[in-house]
Amino acid sequence: MTQLTLTQPDDWHLHLRDGAALRDVVVDSARQFGRAIVMPNLKPPVTTVEDALAYRQRILAVLPEGSAFDPLMTLYLTDQTTADEVRRVDDTAETYAFKLYPAGATTNSEAGVSQLEALYPLLEVMERHDVPLLVHGEVTDPGIDIFDREKVFIERHLSPLLERFPCLRVVLEHITTREGAEFILDSRSGVGATITAHHLLFNRNALLAGGIRPHFYCLPILKREPHRQALLKAATSGNPKFFLGTDSAPHARQQKESACGCAGCYTAHAALELYATAFASAGAIGQLEAFASLHGADFYRLPRNTRRITLEQSPWDIPDWQRCGDEELIPFLAGETVQWRFISAESPAARPG
Ligand code: NCD
Ligand code: ZN
Repeated sequence: MTQLTLTQPDDWHLHLRDGAALRDVVVDSARQFGRAIVMPNLKPPVTTVEDALAYRQRILAVLPEGSAFDPLMTLYLTDQTTADEVRRVDDTAETYAFKLYPAGATTNSEAGVSQLEALYPLLEVMERHDVPLLVHGEVTDPGIDIFDREKVFIERHLSPLLERFPCLRVVLEHITTREGAEFILDSRSGVGATITAHHLLFNRNALLAGGIRPHFYCLPILKREPHRQALLKAATSGNPKFFLGTDSAPHARQQKESACGCAGCYTAHAALELYATAFASAGAIGQLEAFASLHGADFYRLPRNTRRITLEQSPWDIPDWQRCGDEELIPFLAGETVQWRFISAESPAARPG
């Protein structure tokens, strides 16, 4: 039986929601990951340090007993965000970054930024205080084809932004294109990208295989096969600019299986198994630890985890559904078999030697 033991990974891009859903989904992330960068796109969004600290307490309150899972909080950047709030993020140990959603780009992004360039004075403050900017990199221009929105965002907005702010630390979240991967590779230090498991495993055909498959719908949307190949190459390259971010984004079944289904794939139930499957498919399982457990911590200048976790190559079936508050949640690849299994997370004290 092939086993793989590695430094406990962290999830550098995660949606945990709130209320009853939070309690049911956070256990999945807490089982596998040491820490997670928690997305602020609640309704209403988390726009202040005060909101973020209150949200963090709600997360901690529903963690399973004995869990050491550490939620790293982010604030939602809006047209109204103030320089004082940026300073507070810098001064607060529990808050790590601002998340930029172009208004209308994705789920719960109505309060997002309407014109990025208008926020340049604020980005200057972020740069000065060394507060990272996490970017949902898609234009919202309805004239741009949905499959090109990441590429066009990079050309129109990200490239000029990085020129203008040479010291701002930036994460291009959930990259989905060859252009995205190449742009990150070519960019200066202090610029990184997260990659999801679903974008490593599937191309856009999965959305339309024999019918419309709403559980494969997320934003940025799955792209063509050459893009998936480029992402897999980047993730398994050992380059420290690329790190794990699941973008696990739970939505109740009725919201997904609808005439206007919403964007987001729930992957937290099998996150490491899905990444292991992708890395193994590229013959690169040996690169999983760097991508999942080392690069993100280094980017955020946090200590690497000391705990170890073990995965095993043995098949198991993903359940057809799971509970999420009063609703049903369809986990990614529901009813299918995966070939890797998460076995355990050991505390450092339990480690031999
Ligand atoms: C996310 C969500 O549901 O909050 N959806 C998604 O498709 N990824 C938002 C996001 O990260 O774009
Ligand atoms: Zn997300």
